[in-house]
Amino acid sequence: MRQLNDLSTPAVVIDLDVLERNVARMAERARQHGVRLRPHAKTHKIVAIGRLQTAAGAVGLSVAKTSEAEVFADAGFDDLFVAFPVVGQDKGRRLVRLAERVRLAVGTDSVEGARTLAEPFAQAGRVLDVMLKVDVGYHRVGVEPDRAPAVAGQIAELRGLRLRGIFTHAGHAYAQETPEAVAAVASHEGKALALVAEGLRAAGLPIEQVSVGSTPTARHAMTVNGVTECRPGNYVFHDASQVALGSCRLEDCAMTVLATVVSVPAPGRAVVDAGSKTLSSDALRPHAGGHGRILGRLSRIDKLSEEHGVIAVQPGESFRVGERVRILPNHACVVTNLHDRLWGVRGEAVEDELPVAARGRVE
Ligand SMILES: Cc1ncc(COP(=O)(O)O)c(C=O)c1O
Repeated sequence: MRQLNDLSTPAVVIDLDVLERNVARMAERARQHGVRLRPHAKTHKIVAIGRLQTAAGAVGLSVAKTSEAEVFADAGFDDLFVAFPVVGQDKGRRLVRLAERVRLAVGTDSVEGARTLAEPFAQAGRVLDVMLKVDVGYHRVGVEPDRAPAVAGQIAELRGLRLRGIFTHAGHAYAQETPEAVAAVASHEGKALALVAEGLRAAGLPIEQVSVGSTPTARHAMTVNGVTECRPGNYVFHDASQVALGSCRLEDCAMTVLATVVSVPAPGRAVVDAGSKTLSSDALRPHAGGHGRILGRLSRIDKLSEEHGVIAVQPGESFRVGERVRILPNHACVVTNLHDRLWGVRGEAVEDELPVAARGRVE
């Protein structure tokens, strides 16, 4: 069997034991709390990992793009949620074709946007399930909770659409400095969304699904009464930011980047063949702090250019040209999207080549 040393660098390596443990743990947590798990596939974009998640009990997958949904539908996934405010008749027409073969829902946060999807569905004599996005504090997309009844009411009246439920993503959890602060964001995420759902039901709108989810908030948000669904994504791999946020331990990180030291040009500086093209430029959260940890060392990558990762060598440590290191990236999801394949390993043995089937699907 191929060994780690046989891989050309840089290579993105997934520890399959850790991946399987992460998938099983989150599935068990969701089961315990009676919440449907609909993991976000943006992190892996890999068919085999999606199958692992559904085999562990996930009801289906979340994706970010219509084109990602098409990839997973082609691979046989039959229950997909595009967790993004999809806008445009072009997308609407693609979604009509998709809805002919899978159980489908898409996000929306405006009547104008929803109308662009309603029209192609009404023309085709079909109905698309939509989920209204609610902003619980991230202030990216989503209606403010107090506007939800008015917007939901108008969307529910559009011919061609059915309002299945509401959803949110508490991305501001990534800016919190302590696990307690993350827990507070998570609790608010669940409670605020459940409250909106109650209000909509009181207004006569049948809200089936109340969907929360991010990796830092999942474990707390899914315990809140009224939450029915959770959509964590990053948990399959975790990364240096999840460790810094207290979402997981170092040993729960499944993704590392195998790189070769290609130059040691001066004392205190070593350079690997993994730059921003491999690791992305995403910052460590909640506080910026380099571009990746070197496993087993204190030194970290301090500076990136496209093909070079520059390690600031800590006192007492050294690197030699030709040496291979494993780097824990700041943000696993964006690393995946930079690579055609990831390598599944157990110990030193390379067990699987994992094609990133939904890589680069931006529409
Ligand atoms: C709408 C939505 N849902 C779920 C997730 C998954 O969150 P995480 O990557 O923290 O697990 C994301 C991540 O960006 C998202 O944007």
